[in-house]
Amino acid sequence: MSNPTAEKPAGAPAPPPKPSKPGIGQALYTILTKPDDADESKIILRRRRFVMASVLGFLTVNLVMFLRFFLPRTLFEPKTSFRIGYPSDFGFGVDTKFQNQYRIWVVRNTEGIFVISAICTHLGCTPDWKESENKFKCPCHGSGYDPEGVNFEGPAPRPMDRAHVELDPEGQILVDLSRVYRWPKGERSQFGDPGAIIRV
Ligand code: FES
Repeated sequence: MSNPTAEKPAGAPAPPPKPSKPGIGQALYTILTKPDDADESKIILRRRRFVMASVLGFLTVNLVMFLRFFLPRTLFEPKTSFRIGYPSDFGFGVDTKFQNQYRIWVVRNTEGIFVISAICTHLGCTPDWKESENKFKCPCHGSGYDPEGVNFEGPAPRPMDRAHVELDPEGQILVDLSRVYRWPKGERSQFGDPGAIIRV
C-alpha cells in the first residue's frame, strides 16, 4: 500500500492538472459556437435560434402573467346546498353525523325533520350535543339549547337558525344553508314556515 505522504522520487513526471469547471459564460459560449464547428454561418444560425427561443420564452411568461390578471381569484367555499339522505335514515332525536362536514344537526321530532345550523347565536361558536343531558351546550360562554335548538340558558339571544330543507325528485333530503329560518326574540317564529321542516 502506497504512503500518500511519502516524498516523490526526484525526476518523476508531475501529475496532469485537474480540469477546471467551465463557468456559465463559457458554457453558453460553447453551446452557441461549438468551437469545433468551423462554419461561421452555422454559428450565426445557432445564435439566432437561441435568441429567438429566449425572446419567445420571455413573451410567453409575460403573456401568462397578463392573462392571469384577468382571471377571477376563486375562493373555494364549502357547499351550501347538499343532500343528506332519505327521511328514513334519521330516527327520532338529534343526529350529529354531519356536524363536522356541514356544521349542521338533523333533528326528527313528532312534527317532522328539520336541520339546525350548528352556530351559537351569541358569538358564533359551535355548541356540543350533550346526549346525557339532552341539550346543546356552547363551550364558549355557556349558552344552553334544548334538542330543538331553542335557547334556555346563557347569553344566546335567540334559538339557533334552521336551514331550508326539501325533498328532491328521488325523495332525498336537500339542505340549503343559504336560506335560513329564524326566531328572533319577541318576533314571530319562522320555524313553521314551508321549507323550515319536512313533515314526514
Ligand atoms: S358563543 Fe356561544 S355562548 Fe357565546
